Amino acid sequence: KYFPKGFSKGFLWGGATAANQVEGAWDVDGKGLTTAEVVEKAKSRTDITLSAVSKDSIEKAIEDKTTENYPKRRGVDFYHNYKEDIALFAEMGFKAYRMSIAWSRIFPEGTESEPNEAGLAFYDKVFDELAKYDIEPVVTISHYEMPLNLTLKKNGWIDRSVIDDFLRFTDVIFKRYQNKVKYWMTFNEINAAIWGGFVGTGSVDSDMSESEQLQLRYQALHHQFVASAMAVKQGHAINPDFKIGSMLARGVSYPKTSNPVDVRAAQFVDQQNLFFDDVQVRGEYPDFMNRYFAENNIVIKMEPDDEKIIKEGTVDYLSFSYYMSNVTGAVKSDNETVGNITEGEPNPYLETSDWGWQIDPIGLRITLNELWDRYQVPLFVVENGLGAVDKLEEDGHVHDSYRIDYLRAHVEQMKEAVKDGVDLMGYTMWGPIDLISAGTSEMSKRYGFIYVDQDDDGNGSKKRIRKDSFEWYKKVIHSNGEDL
Ligand code: BG6
Repeated sequence: KYFPKGFSKGFLWGGATAANQVEGAWDVDGKGLTTAEVVEKAKSRTDITLSAVSKDSIEKAIEDKTTENYPKRRGVDFYHNYKEDIALFAEMGFKAYRMSIAWSRIFPEGTESEPNEAGLAFYDKVFDELAKYDIEPVVTISHYEMPLNLTLKKNGWIDRSVIDDFLRFTDVIFKRYQNKVKYWMTFNEINAAIWGGFVGTGSVDSDMSESEQLQLRYQALHHQFVASAMAVKQGHAINPDFKIGSMLARGVSYPKTSNPVDVRAAQFVDQQNLFFDDVQVRGEYPDFMNRYFAENNIVIKMEPDDEKIIKEGTVDYLSFSYYMSNVTGAVKSDNETVGNITEGEPNPYLETSDWGWQIDPIGLRITLNELWDRYQVPLFVVENGLGAVDKLEEDGHVHDSYRIDYLRAHVEQMKEAVKDGVDLMGYTMWGPIDLISAGTSEMSKRYGFIYVDQDDDGNGSKKRIRKDSFEWYKKVIHSNGEDL
């Protein structure tokens, strides 16, 4: 018999942010400089500065003690506004708030043996504030940043010893917050490790050949896999109730035509995206990747115990971001689209956002079904949202019906997936409060239910203003996804 289900009773509705995109306060209370804070602001919407970092640009950034060219140093000043911001989340009825801990607040240089108490105390205050409203923190341990010193001294995750630095950090935060945080995830969008230096690996590799870069990125990724698996084990030993997940930037690939060569090409791209969870959920490198490594002269250096560690440190749930789908053909066209997953061609059936990202709500249902079929572990949509240009009207309102339409369509498809039988833990839309864009460091690419009065150059009162979507989301949460 079939009984259609709705969202579960404890469904984790909420929003997601990252420390380097909201906190600001880049140089206070003993915090060290992070890789995110030497990334310059973009010159245009397609200028993705996140991975375009060279040794020279880092030196220049270290000299520059201002926030002017480095928007992630200022964020939206959540560091000082967290009480007001959390109160607004609570007003919408948030059950969960996904946030990250800035590693360099706890270990400013990454290599210290003792943590920075002021940094730990800040997150205590944030977790206590969330607890006041019964909002579950969902903590990303590493979200697109690390202490810059680890890049300067070790070239980031390329150096195996960073695993030890990371585990010292996780040990401290797991112990300190063991009674305040239950849901964790190790690396945000772990597949970013192979997109480009700074994003996932914290390394500078821009002056190397393509194949040298790939070799190093996969090696750095391997170190992250090992670190993640060890952190899962370490966390469970500290508190067996912890739920520790993986996090993937998921982009389902559609074949360009029904020609089997196109179908196979799309499958290949898909496998290249899914392999990260094959490792983190199933606990081993799949053979299609071993073949890919062999055919591309990529040799992953492993210590004797690595495979065992990865096998024993599989995650409790699988989380992912979903913004768009892709189209792949066997013959590469010059007509590539942009987006967070850049591989692919335009899909004539889909509309795009102001930034050219292809909007595909049904792709979310497809994604949820596929991930559930393949892994059979609880799933968590931890990012989804629309980056758009918002207008603050004369009357002081932001009428963002386009954002409501986007989110409604995605929540509807998520509900369909739940009815299909998918075990879904929650939905934390991306950027509930306007924040600095990860890719371009702009402020004008806004995702929030809450408007922040600040422009691309950091001018503005930073006043928080409820957009129309704020009331809409409140209603959605209140009805547990029934009133859309
Ligand atoms: C995800 C990241 O890739 O996409 C977030 O995890 C990011 O950090 C989000 O902000 C949206 O990307 P962007 O470039 O529009 O900020």
